[in-house]
Amino acid sequence: MTPAPDRGDGSGTPDDDTEALVSSAIEVLGAATTLAALDEAQTDLLGKRSPLARAHQALVSLEPGERPEAGRRLNEARRRIESHLADRRRELQGSERAARLHADRLDPTEVIAPPLRGRLHVVQRTRDELEDVFVGMGFAVAEGPEVETDWYNFEALNMPPAHPARGMWDTLYLELGEPETVMLRTHTSPVQIRLMETQGPPIYAVIPGKCYRRDTPDARHIPTFHQIEGLVVDHGISFADLAGTIETFTTAYFGPDIHSRLRPSYFPFTEPSAEYEITCTICKGKGCRTCSQTGWVELGGCGMVDPAVFEAVGLDADEWTGFAFGFGIDRCTQMRHEIPDMRVFFDNDVRVLRQI
Ligand code: DAH
Repeated sequence: MTPAPDRGDGSGTPDDDTEALVSSAIEVLGAATTLAALDEAQTDLLGKRSPLARAHQALVSLEPGERPEAGRRLNEARRRIESHLADRRRELQGSERAARLHADRLDPTEVIAPPLRGRLHVVQRTRDELEDVFVGMGFAVAEGPEVETDWYNFEALNMPPAHPARGMWDTLYLELGEPETVMLRTHTSPVQIRLMETQGPPIYAVIPGKCYRRDTPDARHIPTFHQIEGLVVDHGISFADLAGTIETFTTAYFGPDIHSRLRPSYFPFTEPSAEYEITCTICKGKGCRTCSQTGWVELGGCGMVDPAVFEAVGLDADEWTGFAFGFGIDRCTQMRHEIPDMRVFFDNDVRVLRQI
């Protein structure tokens, strides 16, 4: 900035001096194009070291008789500068606000959201991924009906009528035919029977699909859920093939940190039978609430196909051996995406569905 010329040398009249102060101040104010620059100009023009302040200090060197008039002129000059300053400030505030509003403006034609695109539900995506992993291991994908007869859901799976193991599944029966002969399938295992009946060994198949149970929904159970069944029937299939298949699948799907283990269990259609557990994905095996501090969570069941099942479908149990497994797709999704409560899968809250 250019300070007003200090003409304390006595040249010109005192009136000229104050006029010059004011007009140079107006020039300086006009040159300030931002509020920050204006603040600086204010200090320069009206501050302790400004020409105006110096002129005030110089009043003492005047004849006492001249002082009141000179002081009045200086005060008048200060008032005029202050008023110009206030005008300029209003002007700059206005233009800065206009610039801000322009920058922040909402152009309604810009924010029209693109149409929301639907996408596959996370459980469906899990099912697709599981299929891919098994197809990569040489399995075929098969399907079966959701409404089953007692023969497929229970009897051919080595559970004759009144077999106590039927109580392992809370069954939803349909009012069709004789009472309790037609039902919503409680697991995907009946499709094992259908496959063995319709196509001979060797069989390497996975069977994904919906299952139904008379369950009260909670964080880890939903009455309509999904399973994926596996069935291998060939010559010389061993328990080691089962364990290897399950471990290979587990690391392929969950990643190299997650492993599988088999624990002795009971299912009527396999002998021996095992529970299939994986490293807890939440704590990576250290122990947490989800896995009850064990580091492992159960995913499903498996075992070597029971000879009684081969007999039910007319296969020679001395010639063929096989293994089977079945586990929950929803449970898999829950573990992989670390979802605390399974019920979010069918609450249809789009905020949740968009995240997963
Ligand atoms: N069907 C069983 C269930 O829903 C799970 C299962 C266990 C499937 C053992 C199998 C198996 O194929 O061999 O509880």
